[in-house]
Amino acid sequence: MSITVRFAQRDELDAINAVRRQVNDHHVSGRPDIFRSGFCDELEQHIFEFFDTQDHSVIAAFSEGRLCGFASVYTFVKPLSSYNLERRIYGVEEFGVLRDFRRMGVASAMIDFIKKDALAHGIDRIELDMWEFNEGAYKFYKSAGFVTIRRYMELNVKGFPTRENAERILEEAGKLNNGAWISHSRVAARCAEAIALKCGDLDSEKAYVLGLLHDIGRRFGVSHFRHVYDGYTYLTKLGYPAAAKICLTHSFPNRDIKDYIGNIDVSEEQYEYIKDMLSNVRYDDYDRLIQLCDAISMPFGAVSVEQRMNDVKGRYGAYPQNKWEKNISLKYYFSVKCGDDIEKLTSEVKGDI
Ligand SMILES: [Fe+2]
Repeated sequence: MSITVRFAQRDELDAINAVRRQVNDHHVSGRPDIFRSGFCDELEQHIFEFFDTQDHSVIAAFSEGRLCGFASVYTFVKPLSSYNLERRIYGVEEFGVLRDFRRMGVASAMIDFIKKDALAHGIDRIELDMWEFNEGAYKFYKSAGFVTIRRYMELNVKGFPTRENAERILEEAGKLNNGAWISHSRVAARCAEAIALKCGDLDSEKAYVLGLLHDIGRRFGVSHFRHVYDGYTYLTKLGYPAAAKICLTHSFPNRDIKDYIGNIDVSEEQYEYIKDMLSNVRYDDYDRLIQLCDAISMPFGAVSVEQRMNDVKGRYGAYPQNKWEKNISLKYYFSVKCGDDIEKLTSEVKGDI
């Protein structure tokens, strides 16, 4: 496949926007709680404004005459400050390759072009920033010789996303693996919120969010035990440890890994990791609440804990007796705690299907 790289012309920016749209979708999928979904007018126009700005250029890559990649680059002088020496920088603002043309050398060809262009400007360093979730991009930049010179960190104070961001996270997950689990998650969230509101000492928003995200590991595809591991690692990477903990604990009310109903579709190492995490984690009322809500939530709405367990038993052929008893005891625990009958309290909770 022959690849050519050159500076883009203004009438090629629409084709470049097709690549930018894919890059944006990738960002939305990776951080639904940060990036705007869709491709808004401002984002579409940005490349035209960038193109028209002095010391800014757009580079395009072509394969068999088709535009398949782009980079938007700029040069600037960072002035002397009390901290820094004056330095000239060649920056890469955006960089992307069309999905069908990845792993074919397009990105490497663009980096070669950028290196030559930087030197032509008398600049010997190229800078860019990237998102931590973007592991593929990190691997590529590293292989191209880039090194990390600075880290951009954040701490989510509550340990779980806002209600709105949790909804976005679930919505994006549904695009990757749609199924009854989405509605089941919403039912669990609605039940958790209703019970938490009655308890008085629980944060109902936190309960809702934790319920909504407890099965988020299913975003990576149809899985069994794996959704526990995937959900825990995914939300940990996103910086939401309280929500990640629920992904880990929701299937194990007795803290016994052998209670899992379904296939063990993880590696031995991943299984041992979850086992180790479970033995070290301390359960609180949020863990217990989502365990209960998971055990009463069907995709169409809330049911009694016995009805839901019988449904699971019917599908898998068995239900561990100690898990059965624990779920019943959780129902009584929360009935006493909130001074109301759990079935009555959640009887109006419906799903989206
Ligand atoms: Fe669940």
